[in-house]
Amino acid sequence: MGLAFTHLPDVGSTNDWLLARADTLPDGHWVIADRQTAGRGRRGRAWSDGSGNFMGSVLIRSEGAVQQYSFVAALAVVEALAEVTACSAFTLKWPNDILLNGTKCAGILLERQGPALVIGIGINLAQHPDGTERPATSLAAAGLPVPQPLAVLDILAARFAHWRHIWEFEGFAPIRTAWLARAHGLGQRIVARLGAETPEGLFDGLAEDGALLLRLDDGSVRAVHAGEVFAI
Ligand code: BTN
Repeated sequence: MGLAFTHLPDVGSTNDWLLARADTLPDGHWVIADRQTAGRGRRGRAWSDGSGNFMGSVLIRSEGAVQQYSFVAALAVVEALAEVTACSAFTLKWPNDILLNGTKCAGILLERQGPALVIGIGINLAQHPDGTERPATSLAAAGLPVPQPLAVLDILAARFAHWRHIWEFEGFAPIRTAWLARAHGLGQRIVARLGAETPEGLFDGLAEDGALLLRLDDGSVRAVHAGEVFAI
């Protein structure tokens, strides 16, 4: 069966578009837009609208724990990018950023509405914003071939379906193993920003539920379930 998707010339946010249709569209439906006028990122940040970039979302119907879908999506993105560019410089940063030569080139935003989960994916293919609080890059800036967003969707949707199937039938363990094989900065010193707290330690891997494991200087290991981490 072919891929079920909607291609829009412009939209506020592909996540909003799918959330507004979550009751009627089927599970697995994708939407991709050429332009987004109100794209958003995690933690209330705006997501820059870049012509030629990939801006798309997929609808999932799932009653269970959905946070682990972010790892499923991140794996799909990193594999799709490696495939379309034939380049192995893409890595994963907890919880769900995709890095190119160590700098963010793609991000994932999960939003839930009742039994519907929308996974939004933004990939800087042709351009990236300058002067952002956290540096960004794009495939073009790294001198890589710049694929059409629709060509990315084709491969991304297939990789997502593959990892979703594995997650649903085998659980999180194989996702965790594959994610760790692509992880950026394993064993390196990081700081976690957890509201008022900023514990430092070594990036020690992922817990069985996807929490980041931080080995503190006293040798104890702390599981970080939500927040942001930075190399120091
Ligand atoms: C992040 O790293 O902060 C997540 C960025 C997610 C951006 C994508 S672009 C397509 C979808 N629509 C949105 O409004 N956001 C996501």
